[in-house]
Order: sequence, then C-alpha cells, then structure tokens
Amino acid sequence: MRYGYFDDAAREYVIDRVDVPVSMTNYLGTQRMGTVISHNAGGYSWLDSPQHHRITRFRPNGVPMDWPGHYVYLRDDETGKFWSVSWQPTGLPLNEARYEARHGMSYSRYLCDYQDISAEQVLFIPREDGGEDPVEIFDVRIRNNSDRERKISVYGYVEFSFHEIDMDNQNFQMSLYAAGSHYEHDAALCELHYEPDAWQFFAGNFKPDSFDGVREAFIGSYHTERDPLGVSAGRLSGSTELGGNPCGALQKKLTLKPGEEARVLFYLGTGKGEAADRARQKYDEAGTDRAFAELRRFWDDKLGQLQVKTPHENMNRSLNIWNFYQSEVNVLFSRFSSFIEVGGRTGLGYRDTAQDAMCIPHGEPDMCMKRICQLLHGQMSQGYGLHLFDPAVLEKTEDNGFKSPTVIPEADKKGMLHGLKDACADDALWLIPAIVENVRESGDLSFFDKEIPYADEGKASVWDHMKAALDFSYSQVGSHGVTKGLRADWNDCLNLGGGESAMVAFLLVWATNHFLDAARALGRQEDISKYEALKKGMEETCRKELWDGAWFLRGFTAAGNPIGSSMATEGKVHMECNTWAVISGAADREQGLSCMDAVDEWLYTPWGLMLNAPSFVTLDDSIGFVTRVYPGVKENGAIFSHPNPWAWVAECMLGRGSRAMKFYDALLPENQNDKMEIRQAEPYSYCQFIMGRDHTAHGRARHPFMTGSSGWAYYAATRYMLGIRPGFDGLTVDPCVPADWDGFEAVRKWRGAEYRISVKNPNHVEKGVKRILTDGKETEKIPVYTDGVHEIEVILG
Ligand code: GLC
Repeated sequence: MRYGYFDDAAREYVIDRVDVPVSMTNYLGTQRMGTVISHNAGGYSWLDSPQHHRITRFRPNGVPMDWPGHYVYLRDDETGKFWSVSWQPTGLPLNEARYEARHGMSYSRYLCDYQDISAEQVLFIPREDGGEDPVEIFDVRIRNNSDRERKISVYGYVEFSFHEIDMDNQNFQMSLYAAGSHYEHDAALCELHYEPDAWQFFAGNFKPDSFDGVREAFIGSYHTERDPLGVSAGRLSGSTELGGNPCGALQKKLTLKPGEEARVLFYLGTGKGEAADRARQKYDEAGTDRAFAELRRFWDDKLGQLQVKTPHENMNRSLNIWNFYQSEVNVLFSRFSSFIEVGGRTGLGYRDTAQDAMCIPHGEPDMCMKRICQLLHGQMSQGYGLHLFDPAVLEKTEDNGFKSPTVIPEADKKGMLHGLKDACADDALWLIPAIVENVRESGDLSFFDKEIPYADEGKASVWDHMKAALDFSYSQVGSHGVTKGLRADWNDCLNLGGGESAMVAFLLVWATNHFLDAARALGRQEDISKYEALKKGMEETCRKELWDGAWFLRGFTAAGNPIGSSMATEGKVHMECNTWAVISGAADREQGLSCMDAVDEWLYTPWGLMLNAPSFVTLDDSIGFVTRVYPGVKENGAIFSHPNPWAWVAECMLGRGSRAMKFYDALLPENQNDKMEIRQAEPYSYCQFIMGRDHTAHGRARHPFMTGSSGWAYYAATRYMLGIRPGFDGLTVDPCVPADWDGFEAVRKWRGAEYRISVKNPNHVEKGVKRILTDGKETEKIPVYTDGVHEIEVILG
C-alpha cells in the first residue's frame, strides 16, 4: 500500500492520498529561519533556535496530529461553505474534494479541488543575501473552474508562539500577559513585551478585508482549527489585545469570473509593520517568482555537485535527490527541530554534528566548516568533547540571551562544561575524520594550523586539537587494554563506565588512519611514527582480546565480563563492533569475512540490519540502559538505521558488492514506498530506527529526517559502493558493486573541476580497478584538477 509517488523531474514527493496515518514532513529554509511542515501544512517555524526563538506554535504529539500549522482557508461567500487548501485542518471527506501535497527541495505545495474551485498553496522561505529579513511566503492561487462568477474569501492563518518553547508549554502566569497582538501597516503583529526587539508579523500583499489578532476570537473557545468562528462567520472580528494568545488571521475577498485565477501572497516574518512592508515590496508577485526560481537554482547547484546514473533507479533517486537533501537538512538544522525533537533543546550534539559534517563536505562546505569550528571550540583541553553544548554560550562575549521574568537560572559557559564522568568515549574521535574529509574536499591544508580555543582553557591549532582527541582515547584504556566505554560510546544506551568498548577501540584506529593520511600529506614525520605505533598496539590488542571465535565482542563490563559473545543468550551479536572491526582495518581478512557473515546471519531482516540480536530482556545495569529498552525498539534490537551503512562500507572493504547491495536495499526508504501499511513513515527519508524482529510492529519506521543515518547512508553509498573518494592528492574511484552491473556514470565537482566518471564492468566483477583512463590517457591515479571538465574512465576487472 502506498500514499504517494516520486516525481523525479520536479524533485518532489507527491502525496496523493493525504489521509496518511503519520506525519510526512518537509523542511523549509536554507539559512536562519526554518519551518518543519507536514503533508497537511501542520508544523512550526523558528529563527536560529527552535527553542529560544519559536515563531509559530505547535502542539506536539497530539490529536488531531500536527496541529496547528500554516493554513489557508477558502470560503464560498454565497453558500458559507469553507475548507482549507491543505486537507487539514478542515478535513473534507475525500470523496467530495481532491487533495494533494507535494514536498520539494525546501518548499511544500498543497493542492485542492472542491466545488469547481481549485487552489494551490506553496510555502517557502526565500534565500536572503546576508540572511536578513527572514520571511516565509505563502504563495496562493485560486481558480474558478465553474461557468459562473464566484465570490470566494481567502484567509491566511498562523498561531504565534511565546517565543520560548517553555513559555508555550508551562507556567502561563507570566506568558499569557506578556505576548500582545497589534494591527499596523495592514499586518497582524505579535509582540513579546519582555523582548522589545522580538516581533513577528503576518501580512498579505493586499489590504485585508478583515483581521483577527487574538486566537480565541478567530477560533472560538469551543471550536478548533477545523471550524474557526472567524471563517464560518465570513468576517473576522478585528481583535487585538495586550496579552492572550496572539495569532495572525487575514481575510481577502475575491470575485472570480468563470475560468479566472487570482493570486494572493501571505508573509510570515520577524519584525514590525515596516518589516511587513519590506516583505510586500520585495516579494510582490514578480519578487516571489524570482525568489522561488533562486531557491530552485540553489538546489540545482548543490545537487549538481554529485549526480549519479546507476542501473539502480531508487539508488539514483536517493543519492541524487532525497538522501542528499536529508543530509543537508541535518547539517543545517542540526537535529533539534522536528515533530519528535520539538525544539526543546538548543545546541549541538557532539558526535551527531561531527558525523553530519563529515558526510557531505561537497554539499555544504561552509556550514560543515562552521560546525567543525564550533566542535573544536567545544572540545576540552583534556581531549574529549562536550557531549551537548550550545556554541552561542561558548562564543558569548556579552549577555545576549532571553531574559525570563520568572527567574530561570541561565546556563553560563562554566555550567556547560562537564567532567570525565559525563564524557562519551566516541565524541571527539568523530571530529578527526570530519576535519580530514573536509580538508580533502577543499585542499586547504592551512586549516590544520588554525588556532581555536578549547572549551575550558587555552587554545591550540586544529592539528593539536586532533592529537588531544587521540591522546585522550589512547590513554583511556581498561584492564584488557581496550578503550573504555565511559558514559556511552556511539550507543547512548551502552553505559560501560570503566568497562571497555570494542567500537571505540576500532573507531580510534579509524580516526588514526585519517590523521595519518593528513600527517603524510603534511610530512609530519614525528607524528606519523608516534601514532602508527599507538595504532598498531591497539589493533593487536583488539584482534587478541576482542575476537570471540566467529565474531568480535562488543566489549567488557567494568567487572570484565564479555558482552556480545557466543556464550550469551541475549545481546549475542552486535553490529557496531563487527562493522568497525572491518572498516578500521584492524580485523584480519578471515576475521572480517567471518564477523560480517555473523552480521548477515544474526542481524539481517528485509527491513535492514538490527543493532543487536537477540534483544536484551534481562535488566543489567553493568551493560547499560539498553537492557531497560523494550525488545526490538531503538538501541535494543531495533533496525537502528545509523549503523546500517557501516555494514555497507565493511562489505565493500571486503569486496562483496552484492552483499553490500542486499543490505543497502533492505534499508533504502525509496524501496518501501509500496509497503506503507508496515513502514508507516516517509519513503523519502531515512528514519532513526525501524522496529526489529523482537517487536510486534516489526518493519515500522520512526523518527524521520533528523538522523545520522542519512549522512552515513550517503557517505557509504557514494564513497564505498560507488567508490568515489577525494583524497589529498587525487580522486579515487574504487567501486564495489553487484557483479551484474555493467557499470555506472557519475559527475563529481571537486576543487573547481568537473569529473565525468564512467565506470565499466565488462567482466562483471564486484570489485577491482583494472585500468583508469583520464582524458583518454591511461593513468595510475586520477589527479587533482583545478578547473575544466575531465573524462574519467574506470574499467573494473
Ligand atoms: C541517537 C543519538 C545519537 C546516538 C544514537 C544511538 O540517534 O542522537 O547520538 O549515537 O541515538 O544511541
């Protein structure tokens, strides 16, 4: 069963059955302002921080789901009948009205057709030079398809937030008397009186026939967004108040001749009446068209950095459009704004941000570098990373936060630093490959010498920050010589403390590999010798202490008991340690083949690879919180998406392209478009997890968009399956594909040049490059070009 289909030419996902049982979301905005919006126009906006500067309100996890939103109502002024352009909130019977929603690259489009009136509402946030004047545009068109004149009213509606998410959700004794509504410059304005500069506006490109600024006046205390008083009455009451719940509701009356179409624009933005005037002026019809075309161009350019043409249609669709888009959204909005993470936190999760920034350096180089610099600043001089921190607080020179009238202690810089007790063993290690991948992309070796402060004291070059991370991890070892698990490793629910984590040991080896690659590019001999020796020691320890006979242990508890051994009846085989044993290169080939066979045997399901199996059922705090999680859910035996691509990389490193593709295909959301009765989540977005075999809802996906699986899926598929990897001194093309592929093509832009790559597989192998032709000439390597278009032919065999 399906609810929609892919329109690749438009780069849209089309939901033609809008009564989806779950929200299908999209993200608007590419700079400071963002909106997360559903297929029914439910959702919310923010500026910079979804926690501290919420523009519109959302009632998360409620029924009806996803209310309120950024709505447009239509009313037939002759009959009094009204409906919304998105199916919700009015929810007309779907046998009477036709509805469709289209999610595109940073815009969403809603279409309806009812009683010979068709309408369309496009929501998007224009890109701004310098990122000023953030405004969301509602571009609405209404057409009279009947053969008589029609009188139709159009109403735009938003419910404003009290700015601070906490103020929206608790302790109304202050907030209800601090947010006021005004009507000036033909715009509904919302003010938070505590913050003189924080105003919001909702305006149209017209003089409204009526307006409301108070939510209760527009909706009514015993009504909902489904049947607002204001719309059913046909005239809004002109309400404003100092205090209460501000909203923006504007009416525009239209008379449409047969066949006539009208266009109405609404603007939701930050600022007072003058800002509304500016929006009107800048985004009149022509300005709106220009801004929309510019948004399209922005995505064309971005997506054009790497386009692939493989024999696998859904892989093309994913890598060329949706997977890349999702990865971009993650870097941009960094995880805390969705319908699940409803903006209750601000700041960066160390490991998540580092991995996001590692995976798409070609797509969002500036943003990735910005994130990396923030993370470097969020590193303690001892070498570990602050697990969750707000860069704005670290960078704060003077007070710039919101002042609450009820005394809520504010986090200061000191309060954000944490000790070893709260350090996660993996956090800062991810930063090393993230830095190195970004420098491979840009070629800017001088970045390694940039000085950046530590979170607590002192400053150091980026190079020394990386060494601090490595030194920290090499020193934090337990009784077997394996790195400690500390508060958690990548797995939040594996809380080993002084116990040891195989995953971190292998990750440390991998991070060292990246570091050594950079050290060689820079010729830093002393560092090469030191870290090669440390790495060798750790690899030997891992091979000896962690090998269980057929696969690798997940680690040891603080008391020295093995986790993930063949003797265990629960939590027997784990994904993280076995995939990373191979990715790091620490496992020998026999071990690698065997442990990945165990992954296939124990963890494979048609929906993806489970994190561990069988799920834990016995509470054991020496292993961690994972043993308190329902079997088959999240970290306990679910198909946790994020590590799935690790298995694709591992299989590619072992040369098993068909196996990598089998794993890839199981998780690929686009492959599940017709299985929505089971998947129950967007088929254009990787989800954080999918219920595992030990859960009754096996196959149900949860938590779309904001997940590290996206970046990693993209990274694994492009760099290992298709094998296109920029290096310090050349481009590697070393694919690992199913043997039945004849080849594939790709266009990769890198350091000012365009590489037109054509991979041929005449002997139908899974891996192995026989010949490389660069611009027609046989070469050993593909060099770095700084301009021009270059034809690269790679022949496998
Ligand atoms: C969540 C967290 C991430 C963690 C993962 C596994 O996705 O955001 O940091 O690695 O869960 O526990």
